[in-house]
Amino acid sequence: MKEKINKYLEEIDGFIAETPDQLEAFRIKFLSKKGLIPDLFSEMKEVAPELRKEMGQVLNNLKNKTQDKVSSLKETLKQQETKSDKATDLTLPANYMDPGSRHPLSIVRNDIIEIFSRLGFTVEVGPEIEDDWHNFTALNFHEEHPARDMQDTFFIEKKPDIVLRTHTSSVQIRVMQHNQPPIRSIFPGRVFRNEAISARAHCIFHQIEGLYIDENVSFADLKQTLYYFATEYFGADTKIRFRPSYFPFTEPSAEMDISCFICGGSGCKVCKYTGWVEILGCGMVDPNVLENCNIDSNKYTGFAFGMGIERVAMLKYQIDDIRLFFENDVRFLKQFSSAT
Ligand code: PHE
Repeated sequence: MKEKINKYLEEIDGFIAETPDQLEAFRIKFLSKKGLIPDLFSEMKEVAPELRKEMGQVLNNLKNKTQDKVSSLKETLKQQETKSDKATDLTLPANYMDPGSRHPLSIVRNDIIEIFSRLGFTVEVGPEIEDDWHNFTALNFHEEHPARDMQDTFFIEKKPDIVLRTHTSSVQIRVMQHNQPPIRSIFPGRVFRNEAISARAHCIFHQIEGLYIDENVSFADLKQTLYYFATEYFGADTKIRFRPSYFPFTEPSAEMDISCFICGGSGCKVCKYTGWVEILGCGMVDPNVLENCNIDSNKYTGFAFGMGIERVAMLKYQIDDIRLFFENDVRFLKQFSSAT
């Protein structure tokens, strides 16, 4: 029996478990009910009575030692496992992170906002679902005014008073209602018109409107402000020209062209060989509109302008289909970076 014990001890001391399975096999071999150590205990009957006490102690020690060994090996294996889970190999190449990119319409909008903010314009926003008064009536569109048809409006069927705003000019009204001059703000936002979708037109698009109301604001201020914008955004050589136009809420009204920044005015596909591209509508705010918002039109004057962000983006980046902005094809969206 002594021999056996020494042999087992040697094996137990020298045992190393590399896997939990090896450890379990070891435990079964020595400690399970039919294992080698319980076997030794059952052999105790054959031991001479005077030696039993000593042998009992030796066997108990052996058993405890084996049990300790099993639990300490278990602990070591567990630690090794969590360690290898968390191990960081600093020599590995980093995971590729796609940084993404801004949508071209956001880039253009932010660039435009940035230029006007240098002139002291603040940014204001208003609701996309508007009432008829803010979208039309307050802007001097009379009830039967044909200009209401000019902008194919989406009306809410059961509530004809509610529309999806057809332009950001409705925000002009909201800002003037709640502020007295001086007012110097721009209003970026989404607008809606009932148009068939094509390469040139979409039923949803974006505008940026500008408004400046104070004492003695003149058309010269309008021209200089828009000239500053055009040269900052399209380049220092850009020329501007105004053509008379009509909007119910401005008088006089104009449309502004810029000299073609692609060909410099000599004629190309972008400017349709005219040397000029139309960029925005503008004018002096009609006194009726000021009065509708409780602003004294004898004391104050102002100008407003509005441009389509898609249109500016299409010119700037020479994109020939407006639908590309709404398809969200990453291959398209990744190609743009800020101009300012
Ligand atoms: N709201 C006009 C449009 O949508 C643009 C505009 C704004 C014109 C401000 C003049 C002044 O067409």
